[in-house]
Formats: sequence, structure tokens, C-alpha cells
Amino acid sequence: MSEGAKGSVLILGATSLIGRATAAAFAREGYDLMLASPGGPELEHVTADVAIRTGAAVVSLELDARDTASHAGFVRRAVEAAGGELSGAVLNFGLGGDAVCAREDMSHAEEILRVNFVGAASVLGHLANYFEQRRRGFIIGVSSVAGDRGRQSNYVYGSAKAGLSAFLQGLRNRLHHAGVTVVTVKPGFIDTRLTYGKVSPKMAAAPERVGAAIVKAVKKRRSVVYVPGYWRLIMMIIKAIPEPVFKRLNL
Ligand SMILES: NC(=O)c1ccc[n+]([C@@H]2O[C@H](COP(=O)([O-])OP(=O)(O)OC[C@H]3O[C@@H](n4cnc5c(N)ncnc54)[C@H](OP(=O)(O)O)[C@@H]3O)[C@@H](O)[C@H]2O)c1
Repeated sequence: MSEGAKGSVLILGATSLIGRATAAAFAREGYDLMLASPGGPELEHVTADVAIRTGAAVVSLELDARDTASHAGFVRRAVEAAGGELSGAVLNFGLGGDAVCAREDMSHAEEILRVNFVGAASVLGHLANYFEQRRRGFIIGVSSVAGDRGRQSNYVYGSAKAGLSAFLQGLRNRLHHAGVTVVTVKPGFIDTRLTYGKVSPKMAAAPERVGAAIVKAVKKRRSVVYVPGYWRLIMMIIKAIPEPVFKRLNL
């Protein structure tokens, strides 16, 4: 940890716009940053950019969500790179995929499930063991409103996010007893690569809103946060529609 820093925060899926905005929000709070993604020039570029823009100490690490055998070593390396102690971790990686393709091509459906659920659960499991032993810290999981109810337009991605939300709920219950905060973040439409060409930018919120909401949720030790907040009401209404009616809708 650099001199004067509050601690170190690990961000998985740091090359996404939400990851970058979250990194900037934690840097403003005085944290050092560990940025992780599958690697390559984009990770190098984002690491240099975040360091220049925020002035924080930034380290990059490679992580492939699908390579679950590497996750124990990854968490060990992240702790070492943080100087022996992580303050918290944000699991932000995800794969939107192509919902139409996933209907025909089961290997694509499997890829979506592997990244968003199996890979996420694996790395979260290792992080949970680390933070439980440390008896403080926070874990943020970026899930999605898509996990709140299965819809024909994106149920493969949605079911993976539903699994992730349930996994985080269980972790929150387990780690509460160890003094560790676990927050589930459920963004609605956010203006990133994942929604380009699918959602009008007018309907999508800025990624910075997610970063700000994450930092606030840690401070207030929240459990489940919708971003923007009005998505909580939208999803409450969508979840309240009886299944015999819901199955007839074109959503
Ligand atoms: N945008 C939205 O409207 C929205 C709504 C609800 C939830 N979310 C969630 O928000 C999070 C960030 O998404 P985004 O919208 O910013 O989309 P994005 O730009 O596509 O970002 C996805 C991130 O996940 C990383 N990633 C993809 N496959 C990976 C793998 N196999 N291993 C490790 N990392 C991997 C990507 O790294 P590289 O690009 O470097 O490969 C990138 O950092 C995701 O969990 C997404 O599901 C987004």
C-alpha cells in the first residue's frame, strides 16, 4: 500500500467503463487500486490511464473468469500486490453475449453462464475465504436487473445473473458474522459496450453513476443497490406480474 493510502481495492473487470468509473471513485476516496481483466494492451492502457487521471497507485493483474483453476493463485497474488492486505474487492466482470446466438449455439450459452456465474462464483468463493479470515472488508458483486426475472430476450445472461445474485445473498448472510460487507449491485441500462446498439443512449445512465453508487454502498454498508435507484420500482412491478400474464408478454 502506498504512503497515506486508506487501503487497496481490487477491481475485476476493470477495463469496462463501469470498472474504470468505479476505480476513479475509489481513488477519490484515497484507495490504491489493483485492476484486473483478461489482460492484453487494453489492461495496460487502462492501468496507465487510471493512474494518470487519479494520481492513485495502480497495479494490474491478469484474470480470466473461465480459468477457475487459476483463481486461488490470483487472489494470493492480489493480496501480495496490495502489500499483504486488501480492503475490498469489486467483481464487475461480465459477458453480455448474443442472446439470439445463445438460443442456437449452446457453446455460446455455456460461455455466458461460465463467465457470469461459474467464474464469478469461483473467484468470489476465494475472496470470501480471504475476507472471512481477515474479519473486515467488503465484497461488491455487480449483478443485473436482468437476474430479477427471466425474459425471452436475454434469459441465458439473466439466469446467470440470477444465480450470481443468489450466491451474493448467501455470502452476505455468511460473512455478516465476520464483519464483512457484501453488496449486490443491480444496474439497469448503463451506457457501455454491453448496451451499444441495443439501448438508446437516452435510456442509459452514465457508468459514473454505478461507480458513485458502489462507493456509497460500501460506506453505508448496504445490501442490495439498484442503479439508477428507480430500477428498484421498475423491477418490483415486473416481478409482481403474475406468471400466466407474464408468459404472454413480449419482453
Ligand atoms: N451496461 C449495462 O447496461 C449493464 C447492466 C447491468 C449489469 N451490467 C454488468 O456490469 C458489469 C460491467 O459491464 P459493462 O457494461 O461495463 O460491459 P463491458 O464493457 O462488456 O465490460 C465487461 C468487463 O468484463 C471483462 N471480462 C469479459 N470476459 C471476461 C473473462 N472471461 N474474464 C475476466 N474478465 C472478463 C471485460 O474485460 P476485457 O474487455 O478487457 O476483456 C470487461 O472488463 C458486467 O458484470 C455486466 O454484466 C451492465
